[in-house]
Amino acid sequence: MDKIVVEGGARLTGVIPISGAKNAALPLLAAALLPTGASTFKNVPQLADVRTMAKLLGMLGWQVEGERTELTIAPPAKSRLKLEAPYELVKTMRASVLVLGPLVARYGRGRVSLPGGCAIGARPIDQHLKGLQAMGAKVTLDHGYVDVEAKRLRGATIVLDMPTVTGCENLMMAAALAKGRTVIENAAREPEVSDLARCLLAMGAKISGHGTDAITIEGVDALFGVEHAVVLLGGARPEHLDAVIAKLRAAGVQVAAEAGGLRVRGSGEIAAVDIVTQPHPGFPTDMQAQFMVLACLARGQSVIKEMIFENRFMHVPELVRMGADIQIDGRVAMVRGGARLNGAQVMATDLRASASLILAGLVASGRTDVLRVYHLDRGYEAIEKKLRAVGAKIKRVKQ
Ligand code: EPZ
Repeated sequence: MDKIVVEGGARLTGVIPISGAKNAALPLLAAALLPTGASTFKNVPQLADVRTMAKLLGMLGWQVEGERTELTIAPPAKSRLKLEAPYELVKTMRASVLVLGPLVARYGRGRVSLPGGCAIGARPIDQHLKGLQAMGAKVTLDHGYVDVEAKRLRGATIVLDMPTVTGCENLMMAAALAKGRTVIENAAREPEVSDLARCLLAMGAKISGHGTDAITIEGVDALFGVEHAVVLLGGARPEHLDAVIAKLRAAGVQVAAEAGGLRVRGSGEIAAVDIVTQPHPGFPTDMQAQFMVLACLARGQSVIKEMIFENRFMHVPELVRMGADIQIDGRVAMVRGGARLNGAQVMATDLRASASLILAGLVASGRTDVLRVYHLDRGYEAIEKKLRAVGAKIKRVKQ
């Protein structure tokens, strides 16, 4: 298992190119199951989860070709078609559930291992299944798998109990080939949901309202293959990051939107800010762990509330070992700022926690070894190369 070694204290300056977003790429690849022809995706990030999704599509019979940042995905010959996502793959990546909606919509059946919980919480898929049932599917749980069947899905009005991102994406893809109109209410508004809608529209789907909390899909009989680029944060579009930018500015960080991306400048003094994670456009849960490192350095006390996942403070014990002063009470972390972080051997536990430990290593005095970086590789493309290019003393050590 590789580890990342960081010598803290280096001053960072320069331009960091941003890769395609993991959480945009995964639903796009699943959408390739829908059209009758092949689709090509550009700007695909080189990530473990993307390789896992490509492997899953291959197991279902699709031909996946391409190298580096471009993938072409072509439908299977009838004889090679499989409709089951196996446990040994789903257990490594919860987003595998995204093939369910497309399989049922296109072939009338899909069978996916239940994802089970993960490090950050139980993460059920009841909303995905509730929506498919509303569209007329028969859902049966069988030996740890969920089996979903429908001769042809029919449009329905689905009110989600919470704005689940992959739940919304799964149901949008299912509704694209259903008969009639589907309205998804309390829909997720994340940029990746809109990017998926744009890809489905290019395939011939009829979708409106994406980016709002009500998405309307008029089902069509068939979709066709497309060429689509994964949403590129390289331009780091500020409208995707409003809540994060607002909190950075409140902490005293200068953030300016420019043609090529975002220019960020530290001002030395960091003020404490309170965070509550919420569905988009609120403060994203995927930035909570990273922000906690900033809070450790701030003057004053920050209160961080994790309202999306029930167990997303796994980075806290590791930060405390580096000298942070953080108290957890349920979903609330009280961070006393002004800490001087010291390098240490720390253990990555999940994707975003890994990123926060790298950030802590950059500012700590001395050496930090971040172990189990396979978590990091799921969602961050070559992060050590990007940081080294702007002056960080950081390297990957093969173990
Ligand atoms: C997506 O996960 C992202 N993953 C997550 O990123 C992200 O943290 C999360 O959305 C929130 O923004 C991908 O897009 C592949 P949810 P998802 O369904 O869709 C509950 C990362 O680090 N819920 O929006 O699984 C659920 O338990 C990952 O890149 C149900 O109860 O998240 C959670 O508490 C981590 N029933 C809340 O809703 C359901 O059927 C939000 O989950 C679905 C969800």
